[in-house]
Amino acid sequence: MLKNQKDLFLLPDDVTYLNGAFMSPLLKSSVEIGHQALLQKSTPFQISQSDFFDIPKRLKQSFAELVDIPDYRNVAIIPSVSYGIANVTNNITLKKGKEIVLIKDQFSSHVYAWRELAKNQGGKIITVNPPDSFVNRGKQWNQKILDAINENTAVVAISILLWTDGTRFDIAAIRDKTKHFGAQLILDGTQAIGVMPFSVREIQPDALIVGGYKWLMGPYSTGVAYYSDEFCDEGKPIEENWINRANSQDFSNLSHYQDEYQPKAGRFSVGESSNFALNPMLNDGIRQLIRWQPARIQDYCKNISTKAIDSLREMGFFVEEDQYRGHHLFGLYLPENKSLPRIKTKLAANKIYVSYRQKAIRVSPNVYNSVEDFERLVAAIREA
Ligand SMILES: Cc1ncc(COP(=O)(O)O)c(C=O)c1O
Repeated sequence: MLKNQKDLFLLPDDVTYLNGAFMSPLLKSSVEIGHQALLQKSTPFQISQSDFFDIPKRLKQSFAELVDIPDYRNVAIIPSVSYGIANVTNNITLKKGKEIVLIKDQFSSHVYAWRELAKNQGGKIITVNPPDSFVNRGKQWNQKILDAINENTAVVAISILLWTDGTRFDIAAIRDKTKHFGAQLILDGTQAIGVMPFSVREIQPDALIVGGYKWLMGPYSTGVAYYSDEFCDEGKPIEENWINRANSQDFSNLSHYQDEYQPKAGRFSVGESSNFALNPMLNDGIRQLIRWQPARIQDYCKNISTKAIDSLREMGFFVEEDQYRGHHLFGLYLPENKSLPRIKTKLAANKIYVSYRQKAIRVSPNVYNSVEDFERLVAAIREA
């Protein structure tokens, strides 16, 4: 069983930070690594040619270890989820009338690109709505997604867990059905990867895109993406930069222009992906997550939140059933006798940080939180 890890962070004691789905705090060790990297840029003779390649390689290897990717070369370094998705939509040709399945309220960086693709290529967006009632909501919503996949489906583009209220999608079952109909599965793992176990080897998604600044504990403007061989072999990147081309290691010969790319997903990394300061910080976050183990983080979050969720349900809040939601991210839907503006004011006055997304109060703990944090949350909501 994991112990509370707050000592490894700089969070102040008078703050109850239940908002990792908005942004994680950095580990103290990552701050130090970032600091050292900035100092290194002040003395640039300390940055070597091998750093251009070794730093991103280490990050790709760590991500590959975290999510069980057999070959780290299938990983690209991206600055945002939208960038990672654009690499995908740039390399899909839809037959007219073919369908792209999305989830209602999915995060917009994983929606706009699909709308554009559908518009430009005569495809159709199918959005799977949640059921009207809260009864068996997670189970029914999952069933509706499975029912939406058929011989017309070209792509299922969804997240592992919904960013607004943590509804969990049965990715293994969805993968089975997409395989059956020859459809692609493109996952946004930003709100799940790092704190929930996931195996690329097992699930075999066509792509898995993960922003770095939430559950991977990295800085903003960082991210990593897995692209299957099918994308890598002939894939066209969204930009053409020098380091993604073959032989870019040979600095004295960069004007000897190359038609070939670096192997596999090397072509999909963003320009200046060596990112000497931010990559090592993200790598530090991922290394720590590997040591903690995502399954143990889920257990930890479950342990510290169970009693509070029982109390909130008794007060009339709807919280999704355990098996259909994250323990690190869940939504509280208000009963009629509770006022959202009053709750917001009360939580702010008590320095309790959560998010408000669609109709849910989004609560997202991590290993720096405690049972006491949840007691404070419940007391404030009760009083509001
Ligand atoms: C599920 C999900 N994906 C992606 C993002 C961020 O996207 P981008 O990196 O394009 O800004 C967020 C931010 O809240 C998110 O919740």
